[in-house]
Amino acid sequence: MQLSPEQLAQFDRDGYVFFPGLFTPQETQVLNDCVPALYQRREVYNVRERGSDAVRTNFAAHLVSAPFARLARHPRMVEPVAQLLGEAVYMHQFKINGKMAFEGDVWQWHQDYGTWRNDDHMPTERAMNVAIFLDEVNAFNGPLMFIPGSHRQGVVDAKHDLTTTSYPLWTVDKALIAQLVERAGGKHGGIVSPTGPAGSMILFHSCLVHASSCNLSPWNRVSVYLSLCAASNHIRRFQRPEYIAHRDFTPISCLPDDCLLGELPVDLPWLHGLPASALETSADDITQAVTP
Ligand code: SIN
Ligand code: MN
Repeated sequence: MQLSPEQLAQFDRDGYVFFPGLFTPQETQVLNDCVPALYQRREVYNVRERGSDAVRTNFAAHLVSAPFARLARHPRMVEPVAQLLGEAVYMHQFKINGKMAFEGDVWQWHQDYGTWRNDDHMPTERAMNVAIFLDEVNAFNGPLMFIPGSHRQGVVDAKHDLTTTSYPLWTVDKALIAQLVERAGGKHGGIVSPTGPAGSMILFHSCLVHASSCNLSPWNRVSVYLSLCAASNHIRRFQRPEYIAHRDFTPISCLPDDCLLGELPVDLPWLHGLPASALETSADDITQAVTP
């Protein structure tokens, strides 16, 4: 799937493009059916909400679940990202965020590239976020909030927030958020929330400032977040475990468009458990540049 000139212009201007209902209910169902079993596992890759058993984020399902492995190589998702970055891409991070009914906690205002730069030493912002809704996202179940055009600020100041939620993040302070929202139109479009049916997809720039509030509704808001990075822009430091920031920089090759509905064989290297190396971390940069 390729983006039209209008979509490319929209991405440049706003920092995101929204595709309501891009995946069919049947395709979404195949993915959704796998989530409870993944969330049940008592594994390090399931990060639970503070003071609750609800899963906040599940990492690396594409290495343990065949349907998610197929999604990670889906042309409707990968091709537009490669088009925008002008290069083959690899999977930097793969998560299934729960934002469960009554339990899902906030994600503070942040830019994803802030964390990738500070923690993983990703050289530039040439990486992209993709959100795919597995549940309907509405005004009540904690939709993503974007500040349109904020990606054009580049990397903004951020602080390492280790306390307000169960997952560490580099977050942007309130005064700067207020300024950015004002600059983007204040009450008239300074914050937007793409909402829509399960199967919808959002592509958003790694410097787009975003957040989401907690989910007090009775509806889950499970979404997959895939972070794809230009292959030459791979991370240089393995300070976070591999299930959070991947170290396999092999460019993704796409499967056929109907792959979610079939049984195409896929590699599931972590199916029987994480290798010990996936938990090893280092504060040093890798010494040799990897040329994928
Ligand atoms: C994220 O920003 O990485 C997640 C936000 C959300 O799940 O709402
Ligand atoms: Mn984010």
